[in-house]
Amino acid sequence: MTERPQPAASADDADWWRNAVIYQVYLRSFADSDGDGIGDLEGVRAHLPYLRDLGVDALWFTPWYSSPMADGGYDVADYRSIDPAFGTLSQAEALIGEARRLGIRTIVDIVPNHVSEQHPWFQEALACPPGSPERERFWFRPGRGPDQDEEPTGWTSNFGGPTWTRTKNPDGTAGEWYLHLFAPAQPDLNWNHPEVRAEHEAVLRFWLDRGAAGVRIDSAALLIKDPVLPEVGADLRPGEHPYEDRDELHEIYASWRAIVDSYPDTRVLVGELWLPDAQRFARYLRSDELHTAFNFDFLACPWDAARLRSSIEATLRAHAPVAAPATWVLSNHDVTRPVTRYGRADTSFSFAAKRPATVTDLVLGRRRARAAALLAMALPGALYIYQGDELGLPEVEDIPASQLADPMHFRSGGVDPGRDGCRVPLPWSGARPPFGFSPEGARPWLPQPSSWRELTAEVQAADPASTLSLYRSALAVRARDPALRNGSLTWLPGSPEVLAFRRADDFACMVNLSPELQELPADVDLILTSTAFDGRWLPPDTAVWLRL
Ligand code: NOJ
Repeated sequence: MTERPQPAASADDADWWRNAVIYQVYLRSFADSDGDGIGDLEGVRAHLPYLRDLGVDALWFTPWYSSPMADGGYDVADYRSIDPAFGTLSQAEALIGEARRLGIRTIVDIVPNHVSEQHPWFQEALACPPGSPERERFWFRPGRGPDQDEEPTGWTSNFGGPTWTRTKNPDGTAGEWYLHLFAPAQPDLNWNHPEVRAEHEAVLRFWLDRGAAGVRIDSAALLIKDPVLPEVGADLRPGEHPYEDRDELHEIYASWRAIVDSYPDTRVLVGELWLPDAQRFARYLRSDELHTAFNFDFLACPWDAARLRSSIEATLRAHAPVAAPATWVLSNHDVTRPVTRYGRADTSFSFAAKRPATVTDLVLGRRRARAAALLAMALPGALYIYQGDELGLPEVEDIPASQLADPMHFRSGGVDPGRDGCRVPLPWSGARPPFGFSPEGARPWLPQPSSWRELTAEVQAADPASTLSLYRSALAVRARDPALRNGSLTWLPGSPEVLAFRRADDFACMVNLSPELQELPADVDLILTSTAFDGRWLPPDTAVWLRL
């Protein structure tokens, strides 16, 4: 094994996660070192200086484990090995160490709700008869109806369609059904089974022992199912849903917290929790559970001052009683890129609203996405940046159908465009594909638009007005300004269509979401603006950082 990183454990360091800038690496699309068209660990290693210069504190890697890739790696066959397309375990260890030496921590993605159909446990379960202990680790059930040919419940999969698939017995006859809240290739684990719990605790330790500074928990609100498997009723009270946000989850996360807290330096748990109820959400962030969770309410907000303000206020209000920091997230590998979304008539995000894609004004969208970035970076708490947002990449909406890979697209019968459009390989350099993503001549796993020659990291690094330069400058200010680290947020009076707030006494952020110019207060110094202007009248869809 390569040398383990030894983080310094200063008091300041212990709180690194409270206002960290965390960059999400969608490994498959970050950088391909070996020319197979698929991003890999060596590709990330080669770009660590880029990430250091961007000013990020941590990287979150989407799953890098061995996987048949039925859902971009969220179908894990072996939680302790790296998929050969990405590299090797020793490369992962070396990368964690090298990043740490540059001051960048690593967060790994743990997928506890389901495994791959190729996972040895599921293969064993299929090979064993109904009622066998091997099946107990999953949710195998007989079907309903006289021939048992109806699904055990009428639940709807998160990818559309049913949540049950029928198995075949060894003699070819139809057998039991198994539960999958996502694709059939992702059977759900039974978290009432002690081996399921013990295995995931061991996996957690495996990665923490290799220097991971934290863990992002996939589908964190779904692990526990009501064993009676009732239908999803109408008017459910909190905690009554058969498989979402059940109270029994808290005990699991308390046990995980005890594990991460047993390490001498701070390791963190980050939950992927899509929960509409802010109070229920905050319960996961009590001091003996998760450290933080993604703020999807903010992500889904339309470009509207009142809606953004009420989301910010509700977020801060919900986090205060549990003393957890908020997170600010504008996008990730599951949602429409902000540049595209903010240029549409409907600027909110919801999975249902993605179908069909509607027209977008990319100039307007990019202008707003830049303003949104300055807004998110100025708010108190941790910040997530999805790879490519710092380049202002748009969603790619014309990927040929034959190259689409996302099960969300296929499970919708082709109605949903799926999530491939935000997963297109990054453009690093050069005037034509593969834009330095892969060595010259190789073919990236998804095609890059030729127009991305203007959006490469190389072009943008040389242009002080680029989105990359804006991100770099803003993150540098954020890193050194104590007001942005510790200052509380105070709203400033003014037009309801302008978001204006102070952090501590001397820093202010103003975002103009109105269609008119807005006059800046007198006696302020401009630190940064998302769009150039005269310094007095703030244009529409523009954010500015001010020194008061
Ligand atoms: C959430 C992940 O972000 C998404 O990409 C994945 O498809 C589902 N969980 C299932 O693991």
